[in-house]
Amino acid sequence: MGRLEGKVCVITGAGSGIGRASALLFASEGARVVVADVDLKGAGETVAAIGHAAIAEQLDVTDEAQTVAFAKKVFDREGRIDVLFNNAGIAGVGDVVETEPDLFDRVMRVNVRGVYLMSRAIVPYMIGRKAGSIINMSSCIAEIGLARRVSYAASKGAVLSMTKSMQVDLAQHGIRVNALLPGTILTPFVERYLKDSYADPEEGMASIRKRQLSNDLGRPEDVAGAALYLASDESRFVMASGLIIDGGVTGAK
Ligand SMILES: NC(=O)c1ccc[n+]([C@@H]2O[C@H](COP(=O)([O-])OP(=O)(O)OC[C@H]3O[C@@H](n4cnc5c(N)ncnc54)[C@H](O)[C@@H]3O)[C@@H](O)[C@H]2O)c1
Repeated sequence: MGRLEGKVCVITGAGSGIGRASALLFASEGARVVVADVDLKGAGETVAAIGHAAIAEQLDVTDEAQTVAFAKKVFDREGRIDVLFNNAGIAGVGDVVETEPDLFDRVMRVNVRGVYLMSRAIVPYMIGRKAGSIINMSSCIAEIGLARRVSYAASKGAVLSMTKSMQVDLAQHGIRVNALLPGTILTPFVERYLKDSYADPEEGMASIRKRQLSNDLGRPEDVAGAALYLASDESRFVMASGLIIDGGVTGAK
């Protein structure tokens, strides 16, 4: 038996990076995975790599009407939604002066409003079945100061706080809500950042290694493994937690 046998799992932003690695892992553990992404091509590629246990849906998590229609469509088709992994997110680089209001609003819109809207759309179906696991993507930046990340840090701190508040309200309905706090994970998201921020990407890699205890760089599969644990019943007693997966950035120095 797989660790997610029979469960229907929605993963947002699963057309790339951590979301894609999680979709592949969840499916290999017996889940039926709904790969939701604003980028339908990326979502389709993830589904092609999985096969019949997955389905692609185009979805912008910031659009209320889309989130409501999506949740209904998935529930009507599958009859259940066991896991919601709110993974979709975007980056924002800049200190408080450099960060333009438009960028600040965009980052908060996707990273915070997106988590709120998706949860709001799917929670009623979980309440109906008195079961569910919600996994919200925060970041270790919610716990530490990192240069020139004002909008991104604000968004990921908000996600961690929202996770705890949601858990208090939803525990009575049999729903668990936890957050993931990854450090730097090598995905297209970080590759873009390295390209934009350093003339030599190797210099960027060296600076990432310097703030970790591990000499390895984080991989999407490292975070997918943590998400799998929170999605499965193995974590049935884990609530309102922020699980850190950062190679030792926040733990000790
Ligand atoms: N890579 C890291 O170092 C790192 C570290 C900590 C946290 N995170 C978080 O992990 C999550 C995934 O990051 P990743 O590195 O895999 O990034 P990625 O850019 O590889 O993938 C993000 C996916 O989200 C999708 N997306 C963006 N906006 C969307 C929207 N409005 N609606 C639906 N989908 C949308 C994109 O199309 C993309 O497929 C993000 O929330 C990110 O903040 C990443």
